[in-house]
Amino acid sequence: MTKSIIKGIGHYVPENVVTNDDLSKLMTTNVEWITERTGIKERRHRKNRNDSEETTAYLGFKASQKALEMAQLNAKNIDYIIFATLSPDYYFPGCGVLLQEMLGCDTIGALDVRNQCSGFVYAMSVANAFIKSNTYKNILVVGAEIHSFGLDFSDQGRGVSVIFGDGAGAVVLSAADEATSGDILSVNMHSEGKYADELCTKFPGSKFGWSDRMRAEPENVTDAEVYPIMNGNFVFKHAVTRFPETMTEALNKAGKTMEDLDMFIPHQANLRIAQFVQQKMGLPEEKIFNNIQKYGNTTAASIPIALSEAIQQGKIKRGDLVLLSAFGSGFTWGSVLFEY
Ligand code: UT7
Repeated sequence: MTKSIIKGIGHYVPENVVTNDDLSKLMTTNVEWITERTGIKERRHRKNRNDSEETTAYLGFKASQKALEMAQLNAKNIDYIIFATLSPDYYFPGCGVLLQEMLGCDTIGALDVRNQCSGFVYAMSVANAFIKSNTYKNILVVGAEIHSFGLDFSDQGRGVSVIFGDGAGAVVLSAADEATSGDILSVNMHSEGKYADELCTKFPGSKFGWSDRMRAEPENVTDAEVYPIMNGNFVFKHAVTRFPETMTEALNKAGKTMEDLDMFIPHQANLRIAQFVQQKMGLPEEKIFNNIQKYGNTTAASIPIALSEAIQQGKIKRGDLVLLSAFGSGFTWGSVLFEY
């Protein structure tokens, strides 16, 4: 049976640091509120919010270069791309093809995944299936976001805009034989579309008469349609229920227990959510990795950025059992359990 191993990983974030204090100059908020409610101290925003160079695909490209370097592979060795993002460069085509061109890959398949905060977990699950079925050998799995161009920095949007940040992470998932250590042991993915409106951005969407309305009656297009909206409390309550479910499912499927786990990397949505889940699952401090304090919530990019940093810092070593879990807009949630 072919194994799926993480051969390379890397992350990239824009240089520009935006502190909570910086945000308090744009809207009525304060350092205490943001820190206490979310754990976030700073996040990255590209320097110029309306830049057309430092795009989502570009961040994905920078992270991919690092992942390829670690894997000791080049772009021609990659035979498939899976790109998870909710903030693509274009409405269409997706970022996968842009990355294929930036890297100089052959005319390989490039799939875009639109599952928001769960995007990277979904993308890894798909990549694993392609590897296990011997369809592809080296798949580039990317999670990248530029949120800063599309947030409402007025008081009206403060409950959402203080949370999100820009960044990217990438993994080279490769086929390996039985003798190689490491493998993806189980995956699960879930959705509950009845809650789509609880966390969404409506424009551009076929439900809202997008281009006709933008051109003919821009004054009637509301902020709630253009900017992301989130029913924060509602999302929070569902997150703290679904996280433990998907974690337990991932472990059970692989015949493992929480005690077997060496590291848990939750999607970095809110430090309070991560701490609640940690407590509920009885995980000691050294078995969870959080970096939301530095980057905010980077949706599809948050897990690969955290995984990359945890590996860089020596907190995950080859042979360790690692669990990645996410919950977010859709609602969608899921996990990937793997031996590194
Ligand atoms: O990654 C995708 C999944 N997303 C999540 O998992 C996010 C889940 N939700 C959350 O993380 C939290 O609900 C938030 C951090 C978004 C909000 O925290 P909360 O404790 O649920 O606050 P709240 O929305 O209940 O708001 C409490 C108060 C309100 O004022 P009143 O009505 O009590 O007077 C808000 O207007 O805090 C106010 N508020 C703010 N005050 C200062 C909301 N945003 C801010 C702000 N600064 N930035």
